[in-house]
Amino acid sequence: MEDADPILEVDKVTRYFGGLAAVKDVSFKVRQGQIFGFMGPNGAGKTTLFSMIAGALKPSSGKIRSRGRDITGAPAFKLIKLGIARTHQIVRPFREMTVLENVQVAVHFGKQAVTGRAAARERAIEALGYAGIDQLANYPAAILSVGHQKRLEIARALATDPDLLLSDEICGGLTHAETSEMLALLRRIRDSGTTVMYVEHDVKAITSVCDRIMVLNYGRKLAEGTPDEIQNDPAVIEAYLGTRARGRS
Ligand SMILES: Nc1ncnc2c1ncn2[C@@H]1O[C@H](COP(=O)(O)OP(=O)(O)OP(=O)(O)O)[C@@H](O)[C@H]1O
Ligand SMILES: [Mg+2]
Repeated sequence: MEDADPILEVDKVTRYFGGLAAVKDVSFKVRQGQIFGFMGPNGAGKTTLFSMIAGALKPSSGKIRSRGRDITGAPAFKLIKLGIARTHQIVRPFREMTVLENVQVAVHFGKQAVTGRAAARERAIEALGYAGIDQLANYPAAILSVGHQKRLEIARALATDPDLLLSDEICGGLTHAETSEMLALLRRIRDSGTTVMYVEHDVKAITSVCDRIMVLNYGRKLAEGTPDEIQNDPAVIEAYLGTRARGRS
């Protein structure tokens, strides 16, 4: 059955930086319970799109709705209260704080008010455990490896109890083994009921984990479909996967 009020509906969204349309007339819907992926070359507009959905940037035009509610231009702190959270391509923990303190701050801004330090701490420890870094709780965030910093990004987002998690290049800079573990974590997050939107350059990673994928190119939507449809789409092969993929067919 058609989902009447999808968890996210993006309708002809455009964002200009000066004369440059970083995102132009992009529309799509995300159904609850999916991992929805975004691919596209450097500068295609993926992070700009996420920043508009998560409330860090306002669209120049177009509408964004969540479950039928207009959230266009709403600031991040309000969107977190509505269950929309993100991880950042460039991780930015509070470096002097411990890993646990970093997550406790996130709990504070979360969807539901958590009253009392003990409850906030408990929620933070739970999120750290889910992200697989609870053993690092008392270390300063500054000393974490890239892989652990990415997990801290996930823990901070999960601590807000999101219904929709936007994850930007969470596997960037990770080893093969760390990437597989991160993909398993994304699947667990989806299976626990949180819808995931996921930007990644690694074609193998994104096609293996996503239920649906959209491809951006020069700010415009180039294609949308299942991983199979995307990998076999001539326009995608031409624009993104390049001659190597073309040579295989
Ligand atoms: N704050 C900004 N001010 C001016 N131009 C910007 C800004 N943010 C992004 N852009 C430009 O908008 C375009 C889209 O950038 P964006 O970061 O969204 O791409 P991306 O698809 O996330 O790329 P990458 O794969 O490299 O992360 C680029 O041309 C970029 O230079
Ligand atoms: Mg980006």
